[in-house]
Amino acid sequence: MSVPPLARVTVSAAAGPYPVIIGADVIEALGGELDALKLGARRLLVSSHRVWDFHGPRFRKIGADRTPILVEDGERYKNLNTVVRLFDALVKAKADRSTVIVAVGGGVIGDLVGFSAATYLRGLPVVHVPTTLLAQVDSAIGGKTGVNHPLGKNLIGAFHAPSLVVADSSVLQTLPRREFRAGLYEVIKYGVIREPDLLDRIRDTVNAIFDRDGNAVSPLVTASCRIKAEVVSADERESGLRRILNFGHTVGHALEAVTTYKQFRHGEAIGYGMLAALHLGVARGVTPKPLLEEVESLITHLGPLPPVADISAKEVYAAIGRDKKIVSGTLHFIAASDRGKTVELTDVTEKELKTAVRKVGLRA
Ligand SMILES: NC(=O)c1ccc[n+]([C@@H]2O[C@H](COP(=O)([O-])OP(=O)(O)OC[C@H]3O[C@@H](n4cnc5c(N)ncnc54)[C@H](O)[C@@H]3O)[C@@H](O)[C@H]2O)c1
Ligand SMILES: [Zn+2]
Repeated sequence: MSVPPLARVTVSAAAGPYPVIIGADVIEALGGELDALKLGARRLLVSSHRVWDFHGPRFRKIGADRTPILVEDGERYKNLNTVVRLFDALVKAKADRSTVIVAVGGGVIGDLVGFSAATYLRGLPVVHVPTTLLAQVDSAIGGKTGVNHPLGKNLIGAFHAPSLVVADSSVLQTLPRREFRAGLYEVIKYGVIREPDLLDRIRDTVNAIFDRDGNAVSPLVTASCRIKAEVVSADERESGLRRILNFGHTVGHALEAVTTYKQFRHGEAIGYGMLAALHLGVARGVTPKPLLEEVESLITHLGPLPPVADISAKEVYAAIGRDKKIVSGTLHFIAASDRGKTVELTDVTEKELKTAVRKVGLRA
């Protein structure tokens, strides 16, 4: 099997541009990239037990301190207690301004380590090595970091752009199928909002994708990274264009919130959220019906989503009202206007939202 060539995308951030390097086995290039960017006289690796058990040995050659800092993994550890643990470990390791932190893990590790790096000594450089599909196509790029508060997800956070991102498709081999599939919904999102070719590609190569064939997966990661990079480069702080990334997220976040983050993987909730957004768009006359049908069949093709029949549309509507995406009382709802095109709606009504979520299977 031939290995797809390594791809490189540059993200421009207020703090300066940073590269995202994508491909099978690009972890091998990490040490050289850190040297080339003159990053970190000292390199400290932070990961989770689970990820490190799988992939730790691959980091032997990057010239980092021999012992990584390992924290618990999982959404329920994405909080300030774990941040304090990380601070303790950084103090103990005598991390100073010449230290670069290398975060190896999924979105939880990326958000936790990114936030700790943003605040320790008022900011140390961070390098992301995302190990879930979701983290590779989404969370490792863009500089949003943060942790949960008991009363809400991601309530505490900071913008802290990474200095380098290395997305190695070969680490996805060990990812549980459900986690992998959850990441694919975000790739579908990029297809709907920006690059319809992605929808064709997923449909046509779905078996190779699920086999984690690098030739099938790397192009998806590269295209997704390129799109996310373009969007956040143009609008780092989410005052306009970046909002298109919220397609499917108004309803998706609400579904996660009402089920207290236990029933869905993030991407699965976004799967439903995209379908609801498409139904809403069709009902309004802004979304072509064939696009709804195309995405519906693609999502069904990936496998079953967790059931939603026990979730009430009323509760989901209430949760939408509490969302961070409401700016000065206005909900900015992203709808699809064509394959690869979006329109922002600021006058979506309660009735439209409730109807749309009932269309995807919620009860009244
Ligand atoms: N900062 C952002 O812009 C942004 C964007 C989207 C999501 N997020 C955040 O990302 C988090 C979700 O991230 P996630 O979906 O990556 O979940 P996750 O980090 O919880 O990882 C999922 C599971 O996969 C395991 N895992 C990770 N890599 C593995 C590998 N290569 N092989 C085997 N197992 C592996 C983890 O140990 C964990 O059990 C959420 O907290 C969400 O808020 C942040
Ligand atoms: Zn998302």
